[in-house]
Amino acid sequence: MQKKEYIQKMFAGISHRYDFLNSLLSLRRDRYWRRFAAEKLQSGLILDVCSGTGDVAIEVSKRSHAVASDFCLEMLKLCEMKIKKSNITNACCIQNDAENLSFKDNSFNGAIVAFGIRNVADIKKALSEMHRVVRKGGRVVVLEFSQPQNRVFRSMYHIYFQKMLPAIGSLVSKKSGPYSYLPSSVMAFPKREEFIELMKSSGMKEIQYYDLTFGIVTVYVGSKL
Ligand SMILES: C[S@@+](CC[C@H](N)C(=O)[O-])C[C@H]1O[C@@H](n2cnc3c(N)ncnc32)[C@H](O)[C@@H]1O
Repeated sequence: MQKKEYIQKMFAGISHRYDFLNSLLSLRRDRYWRRFAAEKLQSGLILDVCSGTGDVAIEVSKRSHAVASDFCLEMLKLCEMKIKKSNITNACCIQNDAENLSFKDNSFNGAIVAFGIRNVADIKKALSEMHRVVRKGGRVVVLEFSQPQNRVFRSMYHIYFQKMLPAIGSLVSKKSGPYSYLPSSVMAFPKREEFIELMKSSGMKEIQYYDLTFGIVTVYVGSKL
């Protein structure tokens, strides 16, 4: 099975437990991380790529119009339900592949991806697509897991992330694959400097990054000039 198909099926399988596990496994820090990332965008029309159940799009909709996109219908259905339930009128959902966005060039004021870029098969292609659909002067924001920089904290965190998290995740979701995949995909993800290079080679300029919560996650901000 190709990575794309595997990822699509994996998220379909855990969609009903996704929000609960996010909140539990991050000790509710995930809300702060998404808010911080969303606040790095200018206002206007914003594309949320790999939107999943839509928490970033919902955060973005507090200041802007949001388009939530994902290739997994099961996740998007939950996103749609949450938008409706919260009576949000300036956000919508659309099925889309991050590596082949169906939007015209320069059609958004900004684009954001949270915990999604690690899952796409071709990271540079997805970053280039985000850069393509953003107007000049707009930003591309990426929120992703990182390796904490402090050695002592990193070893403690690895025990949690590589041993405890997969155990809790598989117990709650009743699926062992996805929560073992999570730590291994984070370990395989490019380091900060390498990721910045990928952003640069996708056309982004003036790249800045912010480590949050001891560097468990990093927010990257690039501009289209
Ligand atoms: C870990 S979830 C993140 C969801 C959400 N952004 C959040 O902050 O919780 C990753 C999402 O990326 C989506 N995804 C992975 N590869 C994709 C691709 N090539 N195109 C569109 N969506 C993709 C998955 O379906 C899944 O919903």
